[in-house]
Amino acid sequence: MILLYDNLDSKVYIGLHKAFGVSLLFWTIARVISRVFTKAPPAVVMPKWQVFISHLSHFVLYALLIAMPIAGLLMTVYGGRAVDVFGLFQIPVFVTPDRGLARLYNDWHTDVLWPMLIAFTLLHIAAALHHQFIKKDNIMARIK
Ligand code: HEM
Ligand code: HEM
Repeated sequence: MILLYDNLDSKVYIGLHKAFGVSLLFWTIARVISRVFTKAPPAVVMPKWQVFISHLSHFVLYALLIAMPIAGLLMTVYGGRAVDVFGLFQIPVFVTPDRGLARLYNDWHTDVLWPMLIAFTLLHIAAALHHQFIKKDNIMARIK
């Protein structure tokens, strides 16, 4: 397995990881705001439990896409490091550094949220493929 911190002779990769992660946080927040204020297509006609599961999964995906970079950010600032975002601006160490909390957020980032994001993404893609190719209800048209 390739570990990010094996590359620490140069901080380039982890620096880019952080900058992209922070930018993803902004994109996701922007997306959620736009989602709240615009209308989505009406729900696909399907059993109520499936509508419920799909809404729940989408909600969890959004929550994970927000929690993931926040955990990364907290791990970093509790570790006493500021975050440089593509040289455009810096997020300063806005907390009192604390090794225990840095480790806690590290564990969440790597061992809890990340596996959950993978699991829900796989479920999501499997559901999309099922709709498109087995139920043939042209679900892809909903994200055009
Ligand atoms: C092969 C890749 C993917 C396909 C084919 C796909 C397909 C779709 C489709 C068809 C919808 C519309 C569902 C509906 O309107 O009920 C949707 C919604 C959504 N997708 Fe994906 N998706 C993919 C990857 C991802 C990934 C990687 C994420 C995030 C980790 C993601 C997050 C979401 C979310 C949050 C929604 C809900 C949108 C909303 O209603 O606000 N998708 N996707
Ligand atoms: C959605 C955004 C993000 C995703 C999907 C993500 C994903 C990951 C994953 C999978 C790892 C584990 C890699 C490994 O050790 O094998 C990791 C590690 C790491 N991430 Fe993120 N990350 C995101 C955002 C961030 C942000 C915003 C920061 C900091 C500002 C950050 C800081 C770190 C650090 C420092 C590590 C190394 C942890 C260690 O040495 O154990 N990440 N990230």
